[in-house]
Amino acid sequence: MLTTFGLSSLSLLSSSCSISSSFVGLWIQPGLLDSITINNTLFSLKGTCLNGQHDVKYKYIYYNEQTRCKRCIFFIPRHLNALQYRESECFDADDDNSRICASITPDTVLYTLFRDNAESIPCPLDQSWYFKKSRRLSSLCQPKAFHNCFSINTFQISYNNQCRSNTDEIATCFAQFSDGNMNYIISRSLNQQRFICFSYTKTKIDEKSSLPNEVYLSEDETCRGLLTRESALLLNVRSNKHYESNVQMPDWTQGIWLSTGIDRIKTNSFHINQSQLTMNIQDNQIISHNLKFLRIVQRHEKTIRIRAKSLDQCSPIFYCIKLIYRSSAVVDLSIGFDKHQCQENHIHYTLYKPLEKSNSSCPHIGVYKSLNTYRSSLPFSACSTGIWTLSIGCQPINPSELSLASSCRHELVPDVQVITSIKGICLASWRTDRRFQRTMVLYDKSKAFCLIQTLRSMTTSFIASASSCTNIEIPPINVENSLRYSDSCHESSRFLSISASSSSSIGSVQRVFYLLFYLAMKLLIYM
Ligand SMILES: *[C@@H]1O[C@H](CO)[C@@H](O)[C@H](O)[C@H]1NC(C)=O
Ligand SMILES: *[C@@H]1O[C@H](CO)[C@@H](O)[C@H](O)[C@H]1NC(C)=O
Ligand SMILES: *[C@@H]1O[C@H](CO)[C@@H](O)[C@H](O)[C@H]1NC(C)=O
Repeated sequence: MLTTFGLSSLSLLSSSCSISSSFVGLWIQPGLLDSITINNTLFSLKGTCLNGQHDVKYKYIYYNEQTRCKRCIFFIPRHLNALQYRESECFDADDDNSRICASITPDTVLYTLFRDNAESIPCPLDQSWYFKKSRRLSSLCQPKAFHNCFSINTFQISYNNQCRSNTDEIATCFAQFSDGNMNYIISRSLNQQRFICFSYTKTKIDEKSSLPNEVYLSEDETCRGLLTRESALLLNVRSNKHYESNVQMPDWTQGIWLSTGIDRIKTNSFHINQSQLTMNIQDNQIISHNLKFLRIVQRHEKTIRIRAKSLDQCSPIFYCIKLIYRSSAVVDLSIGFDKHQCQENHIHYTLYKPLEKSNSSCPHIGVYKSLNTYRSSLPFSACSTGIWTLSIGCQPINPSELSLASSCRHELVPDVQVITSIKGICLASWRTDRRFQRTMVLYDKSKAFCLIQTLRSMTTSFIASASSCTNIEIPPINVENSLRYSDSCHESSRFLSISASSSSSIGSVQRVFYLLFYLAMKLLIYM
């Protein structure tokens, strides 16, 4: 009786223990409604900390005045965000502390606390984990796979069709610890805020492979079942060979490629290597897509079809990619969803490499001219309308060069003629039907346009700056807006040869304002 009185007065004096700072905070114990506070004076529901046990680290004596219970709590620190403990039975206040603590054995129930508002940590998946169907459990709801997500701190669990709520779950990882060769992960689902715990092993031989051997999933939120294998759900991991890449891409596909952007000014970039296609598409911002190659579906000398997957969301989305060789500097790329045996593609790009020299000759040599009302889709001219002259292959030294020049009246000073000229090189020229010849022309070092010429009459050319030169909707040829054959090369107009000789480097834009100078001189004379 006296001792009990003594204890109460001790707690009134607000006794205090020195608890590891990593235990202090607000915690969640699944199954309890209220969160739990642990600090140097108290542990919610357990009472006031009377003292620590000197012989054993992390064992503390708590006294709860309401229930008149003295308990020993044994903490097992696991991670900044996960704390486990075992507790003794309720003892009388005058029972001996070391006897109380000795009553905790490895069989005593282990509770797990999760830090409230924990910061997330990376999940251990760098690829998807697919689980074998367990015959014994196939009529039960169980996970089919864990998929790694775009954000490394989340993963997605997909379930078999036996589950009542047939939806996949995305979970955030927030604690990780290991015990022997067993690794434990604690996560929380985004939607239901449900704790999901699993453990896994990796054998030493398999250390390089990032797949685990076995995965144990806790059947409830308390994660208690995890610590005894019998009470957790065993998931056998399937080899990913079926899903992973074993692709040998031909040399002609590889490297860094460009394509004309949607707005015709910016360029998109593409990187193809043995394992993946990375696209950086310039819209208002740069959007990156990463497609990992899985398997070559079809391979001919100049065409290749590949099955690929992207992890833009958590679970993979499968795509079909088709690449067609046009020259060592040009390929056609088509991408579609993996449906209908890869027969339909939805996105098309003609990719080019900004080479300084080309060994593809330009087709249909000659000089082509437009009417005065010609509107170009190319962004390089100062004129919105005017006469355009295209001179193809007129320099005998270099049959892969062409030049394109525009001449128009200055909008403010009508007497002034503005002449703009660019030199381009033909990177590749090909036909996909009997009507048109398509040529990819590089100008201004890294920009490109597509030149489309009619085959039958060989009289008209027009210029397109779409992202694909092959899959482009060709309108009926508009005479108003095309360049028509006017001369063979020898009679090419004088200003073209002037501008051609004045621009030394391939692809540079020359703006010749020679009349402007003349006008300025005239003004000076009058003043
Ligand atoms: C521990 O938490 C309780 C309840 O929030 C508070 O009253 C007490 O002052 C805290 N003790 C310390 C040492 O922070
Ligand atoms: C392919 O490129 C990506 C980055 O673009 C790189 O991470 C990967 O290791 C490369 N693969 C090979 C086989 O070179
Ligand atoms: C162009 O030249 C490169 C080497 O400079 C060569 O590998 C390629 O086969 C040539 N292409 C054609 C179409 O002649």
